[in-house]
Amino acid sequence: MHGSSSENGALARTIRVVCVYRVGVPRLHDRFPGVDLPHIDLGVSPTPVRPVAIPGVGSEVWVKDEGRFGSGGWGGNKVRKLEWIIPEAHRRGKDTLFTVGGIGTHWGLAAALYGREHGLRTVLGLVDQPIDEHVRDQQRALHASGAVIHRYRSVARLKLAAPAILAREALRSAGRLPYYLPAGGSSPVGTLGYVETAFELADQIAAGDLPEPATVVAAVGSGGTAAGLVLGLRLAGLRTRVLGIVVNDSFRLDAVTVARLANGTAELLRDRGAAVGAVITPDDLVADAGWMGATYGASTPEGTAALELAGLLGVDLEPVYTAKTLAAVCALDLAGPVLFLATHGPRSAV
Ligand SMILES: Cc1ncc(COP(=O)(O)O)c(C=O)c1O
Repeated sequence: MHGSSSENGALARTIRVVCVYRVGVPRLHDRFPGVDLPHIDLGVSPTPVRPVAIPGVGSEVWVKDEGRFGSGGWGGNKVRKLEWIIPEAHRRGKDTLFTVGGIGTHWGLAAALYGREHGLRTVLGLVDQPIDEHVRDQQRALHASGAVIHRYRSVARLKLAAPAILAREALRSAGRLPYYLPAGGSSPVGTLGYVETAFELADQIAAGDLPEPATVVAAVGSGGTAAGLVLGLRLAGLRTRVLGIVVNDSFRLDAVTVARLANGTAELLRDRGAAVGAVITPDDLVADAGWMGATYGASTPEGTAALELAGLLGVDLEPVYTAKTLAAVCALDLAGPVLFLATHGPRSAV
């Protein structure tokens, strides 16, 4: 039966409104209706996937360009985390984010820029790291971002100073403490960003945009990206394994700590009303620290070569995280299909 043209017009309008509305509905809310986890859209998904031919690598390699994610002054994996962190800060009645990182922190910059857009101040406790041109650029962007910056020589000195920073912030804000976020935004709330991305990947596989990867390879700088992927892939029913390339030795970061964060995120989901039974064990992922070089931020010959290769592949990488991860993809020549997560998202405006 066909309706009248005015009925058809009304139906078309309704479908259009529903489609537009669905743009803002995270997949996590679809999978767990009623889950009490606020979310805001900070980027456009899905991020693109495409095959790449890497000279000397026999297996089928795909790239998911997470660098495209982020509609503000910075992009990449940190923005995925902020989609959950910023509304959670508001829900907790906070007006300030307090977080930590190296002096070239991508995370701190993303938090400062997107926090500012959403009415939050950002206070950063930063620790020295090896300085190169990339770190200098980051420092300039951080100073322009409006973040309040405290700089220390070591993690130990930052830890000593943290109570005084918190006390000063509480005095400024009528006794209200800032919302503390660990390095990289890798709290259970931030980790939801990569549970969501795993669901997005599952939808792309179902749509035939790429084959189900045997392995997804991602940098591990604080663990949230890998932890969210492990949990999300499990919840989505995919067999894809996660290989995390550990590039940070400032704190313990291995399969045990990543699995713990994944389980903390599953617990958060349960607490907020999602029926999640999954338990992640350290055997559910591989964390490989063999590509870091001397320390966090130190350059490696393999990383430098991978930066050059990135130009040929048309992906934007940086030396600290993503170049070392691509170096591992090239050298390990894993059984395919392999999915390389390109998580760096510079923006020219910063
Ligand atoms: C560009 C880039 N890729 C990957 C990572 C690692 O992600 P995660 O901190 O979630 O382990 C980071 C930050 O740590 C990053 O800045």
